[in-house]
Amino acid sequence: MITINNKEDIVALLQCPPEREEELYRVAVESRNKTIGNAVYLRGLIEISNTCEKDCLYCGIRKSNSSAQRYLLSDKDVIDAALEAYEQKLGSIVLQGGERSDPKYVLWIEHLLKEIKKQTNERLGITLSLGEQSEDTYKRWFDSGAHRYLLRIETSNESLYKKIHPDTPLHSFYQRVKCIELLKACGYQTGSGVMIGLPFQTVSDLADDLLFLQKMDIDMVGMGPYLEHPNTPLYAHHKQLLSLQERLRLSLHMISTLRILIPDVNIAATTALQTIDPLGREKGLMAGANVIMPNITPAQDRKKYNLYQNKPFSEESTEDAIQRLAQSVERCGCSIAFGQWGDPQHFRRP
Ligand code: 5AD
Repeated sequence: MITINNKEDIVALLQCPPEREEELYRVAVESRNKTIGNAVYLRGLIEISNTCEKDCLYCGIRKSNSSAQRYLLSDKDVIDAALEAYEQKLGSIVLQGGERSDPKYVLWIEHLLKEIKKQTNERLGITLSLGEQSEDTYKRWFDSGAHRYLLRIETSNESLYKKIHPDTPLHSFYQRVKCIELLKACGYQTGSGVMIGLPFQTVSDLADDLLFLQKMDIDMVGMGPYLEHPNTPLYAHHKQLLSLQERLRLSLHMISTLRILIPDVNIAATTALQTIDPLGREKGLMAGANVIMPNITPAQDRKKYNLYQNKPFSEESTEDAIQRLAQSVERCGCSIAFGQWGDPQHFRRP
């Protein structure tokens, strides 16, 4: 029997020994299948730009990384990728990019949203993952057709947050939390999540992260292992990290424990899992996740969106990649729900 009554129970599940992992994953999958079913929803991930105003100490596209080659997709690149997602019946897309809040950028996003909505007869779901913005910007993007937004808290421990971000007003923990609240108030289905295996992070922190997601009433969760990037300040601590395999295991424990804690949320099997293990996303599904975000950024720019080292890259066409994914999802006892938005059951319309 696995039940969660308090933080200690969460800590114990996160520390699950190898001989009990099978049970943990099984209970999580049963909980998912019973609550929301075994359908896997796809979100075509379009990385629209890697230019960023922020300087997060862990991230490869941070402003101060002068060796990052910056790019901005053209309107046509973004819209073509969105139309391809629509044709391949992915159901929804995510526009993700480094953080920028200048008026020109805000308008550009509005334009893209309206065009994509129009050209797909309002049928393609659109999630944004574009960082901290003003309430006005969040509203404008919502009114232009975005209905979901992802903004990871990265860690819910304020003092750890301060260790992995520069000490400037632009990198405020308080503001981050505020933005998540604004997104919910605007009416977005709101996603958040954390990095797992950060330097200085404890299992108690991770248990608090799950309780934070519960307290914030989050609808969608993306969590993945922290992966060091050599051109970032946090790399200095890379010798203290858990091994990659341990970070993968811990991430899978996080997914299962979250699924048992909040059965009706959408949980992504993230790219960072796949970076450690080619079957990482499948392992995520078998630990209780129900969302996969295939990368559909045009190939020439995909290489440049390097949040961390060794991000998987393939030259495969979207069509071939999706077909291969469908087969591997079936092997995990799930099946892809093509052409559906896949709203989280947790989200209750206002
Ligand atoms: N390792 C793992 N995840 C990272 N992200 C950024 N840098 C890293 C890294 N080095 C994640 C953050 C961010 C998301 C877009 O990518 O959690 O919210």
